[in-house]
Amino acid sequence: MKKILITGGAGFIGSHLCDGLITKDYKVTVFDNLDPQVHPERKMPDCINNKVKFIKGDVRDYDALKDAVLTNDCIFHFAAAVGVGQSQYKISKYVDININGTANLLDILANARHKIKKLIVAASMSSYGEGPVRCDKCGIFKPELRRLKEGRVLRRHSYWEIKCPRCGKISFPVPAGEETVLDANSIYAITKKVQEETCMLIGKTYGIPVVSLRFFNVYGPRQSLSNPYTGVTAIFISRIKNNNPPVIFEDGLQTRDFVWVGDVVRACILALESEKADYEIFNVGAGKPVSILEIARILIKLSGKNIIPSITYKFRKGDVRHCFADIRKIKRLLGFKPEISLTDGLSKLVDWSTEADARDHFDSALKELQDKSLV
Ligand SMILES: NC(=O)c1ccc[n+]([C@@H]2O[C@H](COP(=O)([O-])OP(=O)(O)OC[C@H]3O[C@@H](n4cnc5c(N)ncnc54)[C@H](O)[C@@H]3O)[C@@H](O)[C@H]2O)c1
Ligand SMILES: [Zn+2]
Repeated sequence: MKKILITGGAGFIGSHLCDGLITKDYKVTVFDNLDPQVHPERKMPDCINNKVKFIKGDVRDYDALKDAVLTNDCIFHFAAAVGVGQSQYKISKYVDININGTANLLDILANARHKIKKLIVAASMSSYGEGPVRCDKCGIFKPELRRLKEGRVLRRHSYWEIKCPRCGKISFPVPAGEETVLDANSIYAITKKVQEETCMLIGKTYGIPVVSLRFFNVYGPRQSLSNPYTGVTAIFISRIKNNNPPVIFEDGLQTRDFVWVGDVVRACILALESEKADYEIFNVGAGKPVSILEIARILIKLSGKNIIPSITYKFRKGDVRHCFADIRKIKRLLGFKPEISLTDGLSKLVDWSTEADARDHFDSALKELQDKSLV
């Protein structure tokens, strides 16, 4: 039986992966420092499978991490600080946890006598920056990040959309394949790109198969509803639960790719079990663009409340307009297929959220961004 180590395994995706692996008879160890922003109760969440061996440890603690690595066969490296906006002003924290923590792991793999046979790293769609778009006249291009002024209120739809650099016409989003040039536009996105690149490099150097999974917007139960820095679905739910309108930047028609956490777990296990995944990078998404306004509307409808989303028509620095996944590679090589539709997934999420604690800290998080002129 294979022994699997999950760094950051007490978090949202990691906790589901624990269940998925244990169902398949793997032995799972979680190494997690229970970061108070994610775990305000500062204890192992009740949802963590009781067959998991838990080590409270920080990936920045070399010796503790080394002990955990030495007793396992494969690693999922999920430990990370995960707020995009927050990373723009907590720079040293994000670099420290995400880059130095990963450097520790790789240093251990390069120097210790271990028996790790595979390393799977959680990378992110955020490293793409703007997704590719198509101009009807001039073809497909990868746009630069928009340079829009913060603070201005602009209702015109065309203002927000990406224009063709050649003819100036409004372009339309197309799926981002793994070959898309990366254009990380936040400290978080840069750290995720560095995680992916350093893991891949050290894996190839020492013959340890590495798989990088670029997760898109993962949603599902156990997402922290009280952490205002991550996960638009969770932030909207906690607003709605507290009878506040979800706050939407721009005109709400920007799109993302929402992927059900159970589908992500299946992608993780396919990556673990298939040799075809070795040294490859895969998008893990649903492969469909969904607007942020649509998400807000579905969640409000499911909650049965009479709330109208608040559209700010303002730009949040660093936000991309469109990005959704081309999932042909993971389908072709690993046989992955998303199984849960968005409405079914969101309805399961809303059902779960009725019991979950949801403190709405959105206003204070927004104020932090405003204080730093990021919105
Ligand atoms: N959720 C998404 O939509 C999404 C999208 C793209 C990529 N990812 C990546 O997937 C991984 C898991 O994300 P998640 O949504 O489950 O986040 P999460 O915040 O729920 O989980 C992260 C876990 O890492 C732990 N952690 C943080 N700092 C640590 C440290 N220094 N040492 C040890 N543990 C530490 C936290 O306590 C937490 O339990 C992350 O690497 C994230 O960047 C997530
Ligand atoms: Zn054009």
